[in-house]
Amino acid sequence: MKILSIETSCDETAVSVIEASNDHTHPAYTILGDALYSQATLHAKYGGVYPTLAKREHQKNLVPLTINSLTSATLYTKAAPTMINHSRLEKGVENVREEEFKKDILDFLKTIQKPDIDLIAVTHGPGLEPALWTGVSFAHALSHAWNIPLTGINHMEGHITAALVRKNKTTDKNLKAITYTISPVALPILSLLISGGHTELVLMKEWFKYELVGRTRDDAVGEAFDKVARLLGLPYPGGPEVSRLAQLARDKGTVHDITLPRPMIHENSCDFSFSGLKTAVLYTLKDKKELSENEKVNMAQEFEDAVRDVLVTKTKRALEFHHPKTLVVGGGVSANTHIRKGLETLIDESFPDTSLHYPEHGLTGDNAVMIATAAYVREIHNATVTSEKLEAHGSLSLVQ
Ligand code: KG4
Ligand code: ZN
Repeated sequence: MKILSIETSCDETAVSVIEASNDHTHPAYTILGDALYSQATLHAKYGGVYPTLAKREHQKNLVPLTINSLTSATLYTKAAPTMINHSRLEKGVENVREEEFKKDILDFLKTIQKPDIDLIAVTHGPGLEPALWTGVSFAHALSHAWNIPLTGINHMEGHITAALVRKNKTTDKNLKAITYTISPVALPILSLLISGGHTELVLMKEWFKYELVGRTRDDAVGEAFDKVARLLGLPYPGGPEVSRLAQLARDKGTVHDITLPRPMIHENSCDFSFSGLKTAVLYTLKDKKELSENEKVNMAQEFEDAVRDVLVTKTKRALEFHHPKTLVVGGGVSANTHIRKGLETLIDESFPDTSLHYPEHGLTGDNAVMIATAAYVREIHNATVTSEKLEAHGSLSLVQ
């Protein structure tokens, strides 16, 4: 089956097409098209994502990215005018509110024959609601005009399933020649989800039935990385920058005397708190006019150590309480090697029977392939939910 997927929950606009195997005992797919535009540099001057700008950029980029993805999948075939069902097209864009966006979609739909796609999957939450609606109403328009079923995917489920994907080794650089397999995993699965908007531990005892085990009571961990980066004068998104400085400090072997708190580390719950950690960085730096390079790298190191200590301790507690067979780490912050190492050590030393899964490079941050992956994993488990009335929900939760 071929799945077209759309992701617009935050500041990445992405459209992908995968071709998935029908042999559900050996789930695998190839990526036929993968077009992604990151707005990060546009938002950098605001120090974070600016919702109105994000929405406008999604509207501008969805059509070109879809054309790009379908073209690379060789599914973009020019339409003969007689083939176009105008009433379907007009009806398809009924729920698109902005006139210019509606016109772009109509113009696009008039140029193309219905592509050979079996399912359209779109992120319908959580995220910035205006940004999500852009993707959802675009997906509705395509689904309606082409008469292809539409399914809404929870962005966090995308991050979870992305961790189960393994790229098969090949020397061929051609995207379509690379197969990706879905690792067989045993339930229960505990997922540590760490991103710009989320920090939570969720347990899945049955496929797609989630229980909340722990969550942040204030800032998400990625948000804390981004805020600390700002305090250190580093650009947005700050996570990779803070991590780079922290590694410099480790490489240099510098000794520092900064001690940041490890919030809630001794509390007997799996909840997190990161706003106090960010405030502690602010207070430590407050009387300093200009930071030396050494002060910056030392602060980055201590901050990253504090975050790792908290994440590892809380995950350990959740593993002790719930005894999952699988631990999945997902979300943008899962790219962090220092945090990965901390979790690997925890599993190696204390939970050798639990299998640990991370997303591969390129699948940690927001992308559309993870949305197609989640749709496919649902297909494998007969858990696809299609809807003609799909809505976007900014605070959509995995726990229903
Ligand atoms: O999942 P994601 O791409 O978007 C959301 O759904 O929020 O996560 C983005 C977050 C940002 O806060 C970014 O700074 C952080 O992930 N991030 C990192 C690293 N790479 C990205 N944080 C720490 N270390 C990294 N290497
Ligand atoms: Zn994300």
